Amino acid sequence: MSKEYILVEQSLKLHGEAQLVGAKNAVLVIMASLLLTDGKSILKNVPNSQDVASMIELLEMLGAEIVFDKETHILTVDTNTINDYKVPSHIMKKMRASVLVMGPLLARFGKAQVAVPGGCVIGTRPIDYHLKNFEKMGVTITTAGEFVSAQVSKKLKSNKLILEYPSVGATENIIMAATLAEGKTKIINAALEPEVLDLIAVLKKMGAQITILPAATIEIEGVSSLNVVQHEVINDRLEAGALLLASAITGGQIYLPHAPAWAMDLFLVKLEQMGHKIEVGPDETGITLKATKFPNAVSFKTGPYPGFPTDLQAPMMVAQSVAEGEATIEETVFENRLLHVRELQKMGAQINVENNKAIVKGVDRLYGASVIATDIRASCALVLAGLVAEGQTTMSGVHHFKRGYDCLDKKLAHLGASIKLKVGSDF
Ligand code: EPZ
Repeated sequence: MSKEYILVEQSLKLHGEAQLVGAKNAVLVIMASLLLTDGKSILKNVPNSQDVASMIELLEMLGAEIVFDKETHILTVDTNTINDYKVPSHIMKKMRASVLVMGPLLARFGKAQVAVPGGCVIGTRPIDYHLKNFEKMGVTITTAGEFVSAQVSKKLKSNKLILEYPSVGATENIIMAATLAEGKTKIINAALEPEVLDLIAVLKKMGAQITILPAATIEIEGVSSLNVVQHEVINDRLEAGALLLASAITGGQIYLPHAPAWAMDLFLVKLEQMGHKIEVGPDETGITLKATKFPNAVSFKTGPYPGFPTDLQAPMMVAQSVAEGEATIEETVFENRLLHVRELQKMGAQINVENNKAIVKGVDRLYGASVIATDIRASCALVLAGLVAEGQTTMSGVHHFKRGYDCLDKKLAHLGASIKLKVGSDF
């Protein structure tokens, strides 16, 4: 059976300039938030990725009318004709972010039904924080087989909601539900990732009353209705991180004119600790990296923003595996997000895993191999490893790469990478 794979060959000194696209983890929740409105909204800087295609498919199944111009990256969504509230399991299975339509559907129509999102390789990824807090807003949750149904007879009730972990998705779902609830809802220990802030910016443009208070607290004063909106999605800090690392590990130099450096502080500090030269443009927008020839390995621990982003853990691990010295990498967000270690070991990386820690000993070189991507960010890491490895690397699991990125392979090729999307039968 023929299968797609990515062929990467050793490519040194990646250099030049690259434009970023909108953040996947902002645009998906912002698209879901449009269910709160009744009319035509316009989103700009929308990435042409598989997850965006899946969210378009979901919103159309709920009755929205959507036009996506892939050349201009402009998405037009008309929610005048929303006539359903059920998320089919095949969509839920391919994209967990589908759960983010629950809050808007409950706020707008008083009901929502989703298939329990399958966990994925990086963890069980339950949605208990979402459901428990919906119940505290007056929602009745019933589970039948693989489906979870949520229903509220009248308006959602405001409440003081305390998150035991600053979950990004739970924070986003509760904020969206609370925008049309009765009274003031308070979220304690909220997630404040840049993508959550971009959602809040969109909701405020729609007319929502939202205040961010010290100590990760968000207050939402419910309003009676929300208006349609126009918004340009923030650039993707995770795509920026991938491009910076591609240049760093191959000893090159890169300029990302509109990179959100303001959202990447700790990641940039770690690149500087490795010895790379980083320059940030005015208003903390725009990043230039000049790679050092002799990078030092640096340790880091992932955590909620502004901690080190878990979505850059795998790509950053590749940089440590060919640096001087030893690095300890601790993954604290997901319980099983070190599966890329096995694949990097196939390429000659010296990594030992102890529970949620990876001890990486830098080596002089990696060797091309046939590897398997296990999640979106692991697919990015393995492509980066292929750029610096001697010989050829073939990576299967390309659907992960396509889910999370918009032509990142073409952008890397533009910087001098030898990388091709291929179809082969020897898999
Ligand atoms: C979002 O996932 C992102 N996805 C993830 O990006 C990102 O890694 C993650 O936030 C953390 O930053 C989107 O925005 C679409 P969480 P989310 O709820 O919301 C546990 C990528 O590669 N948890 O903050 O699902 C959960 O299991 C993806 O782009 C519960 O236990 O993440 C995890 O261990 C991967 N119960 C931790 O909290 C819940 O109800 C953080 O999850 C919810 C979460």
